[in-house]
Amino acid sequence: MMEGVNRQIVLASRPVGLPKESDFRLVESPVPKPRPGEVLVRTLFLSVDPYMRGRIRENGGYARRTELGEVMTGGIVGRVVESNDPRIGSGELVEGMLGWQDYATAPAKALRKVNPAIAPISTALSVLGMPGLTAYFGLLDICRPQPGDTVMVSAAAGAVGSLVGQIAKIKRCRAIGIAGSDEKIRFITKELGFDGGFNYKTTHDYDVKLKELCPTGIDVYFDNVGGPITDAVIRHLNTRARVAVCGQISTYNCDEPQVGPRWLDQILNKQAKVEGFLVFQYTDRFEEGLKQLATWLREGRIKYREDIVEGLQNAPRAFIRMLEGGNTGKQLVKIAD
Ligand SMILES: NC(=O)c1ccc[n+]([C@@H]2O[C@H](COP(=O)([O-])OP(=O)(O)OC[C@H]3O[C@@H](n4cnc5c(N)ncnc54)[C@H](OP(=O)(O)O)[C@@H]3O)[C@@H](O)[C@H]2O)c1
Repeated sequence: MMEGVNRQIVLASRPVGLPKESDFRLVESPVPKPRPGEVLVRTLFLSVDPYMRGRIRENGGYARRTELGEVMTGGIVGRVVESNDPRIGSGELVEGMLGWQDYATAPAKALRKVNPAIAPISTALSVLGMPGLTAYFGLLDICRPQPGDTVMVSAAAGAVGSLVGQIAKIKRCRAIGIAGSDEKIRFITKELGFDGGFNYKTTHDYDVKLKELCPTGIDVYFDNVGGPITDAVIRHLNTRARVAVCGQISTYNCDEPQVGPRWLDQILNKQAKVEGFLVFQYTDRFEEGLKQLATWLREGRIKYREDIVEGLQNAPRAFIRMLEGGNTGKQLVKIAD
């Protein structure tokens, strides 16, 4: 039987604007005991993600909000240290939504087994996990890219965006990315094979840059950010373009609704299709997506990067860092060896 202390990060106050470390608090409680049908998991890696910003606001988005004093929600990879279900044995590696804490119990059926022979186990939170599936279904199912299409992606050096551009290349498209530093643009073009990109923080005229990078217009836009970047991209869509609304991170720290240009006339004139999606709508096809992503990874057709901060106590810092664009690739927190 496990005994000892379970460190947990709870929500201390609702952030105003960009979260601060003081909006979170580290507390200690006893390590929980698994009930029949449950397992006890030791967290090894924790994922910090943009959606968490929505969960900690007063009026959350599509998911239940995190209450004050409640453990922060989050995906983890961990090792089962005690099992009360024959489906998962002690010592096995699993992935699940177990939160920002050292230990958690969960029904065995709510966890996915992780095979360490396929790739490093942290990838179950990046390329072979939720971000990878978001890129895969968002691009292929929502945008239906055709060979020769120009595919534009925002937050292009992040967990989802970096894969969208690479999958677009596999589908024989031109991939162009927008990101927040010259180093990120170098990463996507030199290391990941994107055809071009620009740093939105130092580019004064997005229209001029978009015209230069996409002289024949944009056929597919995978939107991770919203705001002025998206307002500009919409003006360059081609007839029958497809836009996947994956995220709107430029607005996540805003307390007031953002007002922008009205661009539905552009959608009308270009007969374009704009579709929002949540990766969980594809749950019954996750196996297909993971299989394909693992194959591309094994064949060296996709690369991934993980940006790893050490220590549960540094999870709030890692989360804020990701919201500020400090990460290249997937932002993770290593909790234990
Ligand atoms: N629909 C779904 O099911 C689903 C699933 C997963 C993720 N998402 C969404 O996909 C997007 C990317 O998620 P991710 O996990 O891959 O995160 P990520 O891209 O790895 O990290 C977030 C990135 O957003 C960029 N960013 C922050 N503030 C910005 C701003 N004001 N304007 C433009 N860019 C900004 C930063 O990069 P820069 O340096 O480039 O600014 C930062 O690195 C998010 O919007 C997220 O909510 C949606």
